[in-house]
Amino acid sequence: MLHKRIQMIISKWRSSCSLIALLTMSWLWSSCTVRRVAGCDGFDELFQPTWAPEHVECEGDQTKLTLDSSSGCGFGSMKTYLFGLTTVQIKLVQGDSAGTVTAFYMSSDAPNHDELDFEFLGNLSGEPYLVQTNVYVNGTGDREQRHSLWFDPTLDFHTYSLFWNRRFIMFLVDGIPVRVFTNKEESRGVPYPKSQPMRVRGSVWNADDWATQGGRVKTNWSHAPFVSSFRSFGIDACELSPETDDIVTKCRQLGQYWWDKPSFDEIGRHRSRQLTWVRKKHLVYDYCQDKLRFSELPKECVD
Ligand SMILES: *[C@@H]1O[C@H](CO)[C@@H](O)[C@H](O)[C@H]1NC(C)=O
Ligand SMILES: *[C@@H]1O[C@H](CO)[C@@H](O)[C@H](O)[C@H]1NC(C)=O
Ligand SMILES: *[C@@H]1O[C@H](CO)[C@@H](O)[C@H](O)[C@H]1NC(C)=O
Repeated sequence: MLHKRIQMIISKWRSSCSLIALLTMSWLWSSCTVRRVAGCDGFDELFQPTWAPEHVECEGDQTKLTLDSSSGCGFGSMKTYLFGLTTVQIKLVQGDSAGTVTAFYMSSDAPNHDELDFEFLGNLSGEPYLVQTNVYVNGTGDREQRHSLWFDPTLDFHTYSLFWNRRFIMFLVDGIPVRVFTNKEESRGVPYPKSQPMRVRGSVWNADDWATQGGRVKTNWSHAPFVSSFRSFGIDACELSPETDDIVTKCRQLGQYWWDKPSFDEIGRHRSRQLTWVRKKHLVYDYCQDKLRFSELPKECVD
């Protein structure tokens, strides 16, 4: 029932710093600089459609992304960011969402790009969504994990967050960590994203060749349009205008930002326990356990 409590806290503290406070517990409110922008005007300030703009619509405080037989759609932030915390609330496609994927992710523009993904894999009416996460470094992904959720993500908005510093990347659902990707660059020579600023992005598209029940269940277009709603974007990260800002001095000097504090060197005992609970109850697939796929497990999978 922890998540219920956290949700309550989130809705109670309608303050811009609620998620940061949740993450840090002892965080100084005054140092919070999160840009939590409500409403579609806020969306326009931070983002722009990246494909099929006619399928990206504002309605009240929500941005609705539509997939139909003509197209999916996507948006991306105008600025790029290195490290920090990015969060959004999403209400996923209701009813029959089989074959559809809704994504909330960050990715860099470079050809050997870095990327942090939340992908929500739709399902037939009444069957559960899965959340797939992935980490790309320097153009290479293949690090999928899949989780079931402890709620129906189509009934209401839930908060999805990406925390990223030079030590680890944490994927959070309603403030609860579902995945941590630790920097093992020095200990094991595993590449870690730390040099490429990323854009914050969202999209909805047709992926019925793989998404639902391994691709066996196809998108039923008679149930289109498929709509996912986004709102309450929060980006508290080192913001860069690539043309003018120097990434090293602006974002990579230690001690400038809260996510570099020693208290963020590790995820901490409380969040470790939550992660253990999630893995025990909700982990459906972990590439690190897939010996059929990898004759030798990737280096980061060995402790
Ligand atoms: C990234 O990938 C490219 C091409 O695959 C390679 O040449 C380069 O050395 C890699 N960079 C790092 C930092 O691993
Ligand atoms: C869809 O529902 C089936 C049956 O309950 C389940 O096995 C599967 O994991 C669910 N999710 C996806 C994305 O296929
Ligand atoms: C698609 O949905 C329609 C309307 O609910 C239904 O009649 C039809 O059988 C579905 N098609 C498939 C392939 O399931």
